[in-house]
Amino acid sequence: MDIRTMRASSYKKEVREQYEKYPFTLRDPEEERKRLHVCALDMPAKLNHYCYAGRQSFNDEFRVLVAGGGAGDTTIYLGEALRGRNVEIVHVDISTSSIAIAKKRAHVRRLKGITWINESVLDLPSLGLGSFDYINCAGVLHHLEDPDAGLRALVSSLKDVGAMGLMVYGRYGRLDLYATQDLMRLVNKATTKLAERVANAKAVLRCLPPSNILLRGRHREDVEAMFLADDSNIYDALLHEQDAPFTVPEVYEFVERAGLKMISFTNYRNDAGICRLEYDLHLHLGSDPELTARMRRLPKRDQEAVAEAVNGGIGLHSLLCGQGRAKACFLCRSQRYSMLPHRRCRNDMPGHRGKT
Ligand SMILES: C[S@@+](CC[C@H](N)C(=O)[O-])C[C@H]1O[C@@H](n2cnc3c(N)ncnc32)[C@H](O)[C@@H]1O
Repeated sequence: MDIRTMRASSYKKEVREQYEKYPFTLRDPEEERKRLHVCALDMPAKLNHYCYAGRQSFNDEFRVLVAGGGAGDTTIYLGEALRGRNVEIVHVDISTSSIAIAKKRAHVRRLKGITWINESVLDLPSLGLGSFDYINCAGVLHHLEDPDAGLRALVSSLKDVGAMGLMVYGRYGRLDLYATQDLMRLVNKATTKLAERVANAKAVLRCLPPSNILLRGRHREDVEAMFLADDSNIYDALLHEQDAPFTVPEVYEFVERAGLKMISFTNYRNDAGICRLEYDLHLHLGSDPELTARMRRLPKRDQEAVAEAVNGGIGLHSLLCGQGRAKACFLCRSQRYSMLPHRRCRNDMPGHRGKT
């Protein structure tokens, strides 16, 4: 493992300062002895199904880039999930303190084959890292001054048959956070000191009346648990200098401007709330079959846009996309059924010669 030093200045100074002081996600490397944080976005079986037509063995010099990998959740997860395979993982981040945590986590787990690079994703085209089969970039692009430039830099490092797992913020699901960010900017007008901003933010949070948008539909204890005990999280969610969310149509346009094709929205972590089903109209409008049927005539992306707007709570969009040659696995009918616990129907009995 090596840490190269950052050479270019392709990042926003305030953003780098934030992540140096408050690495994200805050993790204790010793906890690696007890549990693995599973990153649902990057599950190898799911990637294989959606992005590699079910043909990826992860054994043929499979190259992974974790861009803006932070304190290492995806790097550690994929390092562990693909242990023993012929895989190389490259972790890039502008924050040395985040890389240091990720490195310690890898050390505790005795993971090999990870390269640590302290650089900006915007400099990827000039780093000479070669191209990758899978690029994870979660929670990073919406923090760049020019997210398009960030995505283009990632595309320049992606193999033709490669795929990307991205996570960007959702506009409607974070309206309460954007109102709170406005509040925090007012409260922190007089200070540029990070620790003072955090202290002011915590003090205000403790005083919020029930009418405040952050407390509507939430218990005060939950809000306090989310922010008061985790300075990295309070800074990331409420005090960030650079935070540009996306709606579903904006996600599609963003991906397509970079020459990529959307494969699917998907889960981010294993927690409820951010999963593919939420983009399905039926989940929200199913009680009105006629309305659902009318909406079903819309193109898929418009249906997903309606689902997002009706849902109102999608705060993160996680998605798989590729250069167009990445493709999902198609199972013929008998294969599909053989994976489900069901009674065989006659057409699927061995020896049946009908179409599959
Ligand atoms: C919200 S954290 C997400 C970390 C990690 N991807 C995860 O999902 O846990 C954002 C990360 O992006 C990194 N970052 C921000 N701008 C960057 C840039 N221009 N190049 C590389 N990393 C960057 C930050 O240092 C930080 O570690």
